[in-house]
Amino acid sequence: MDISEVRTRQGMTGRIDGREVAVSILDGDIRVMENICTHRACPLIWNGDERFWDCQCHGSRFSADGRVLRGPASEPLRALRHVVTDGRIELARE
Ligand code: FES
Repeated sequence: MDISEVRTRQGMTGRIDGREVAVSILDGDIRVMENICTHRACPLIWNGDERFWDCQCHGSRFSADGRVLRGPASEPLRALRHVVTDGRIELARE
């Protein structure tokens, strides 16, 4: 995933190393999370106007860094360790 595209859009979904991810910018830092709602595992959509992650299955919302803003989800999004190499975001080896 191209870091300049994430910076332009402030948040986007995609695949990195075969995993579905939700990537957003908060205070200039890249946040990489699993694109899996912690309520019942639906994918998330980035709300670029208000800068949060939205789950359209049951209405949960998460901040740009994955904290729960509105339920029914009660757990934050799972953060994924990452590295940036030559302008591309890759997942760090666990
Ligand atoms: S799966 Fe996301 S709110 Fe239910």
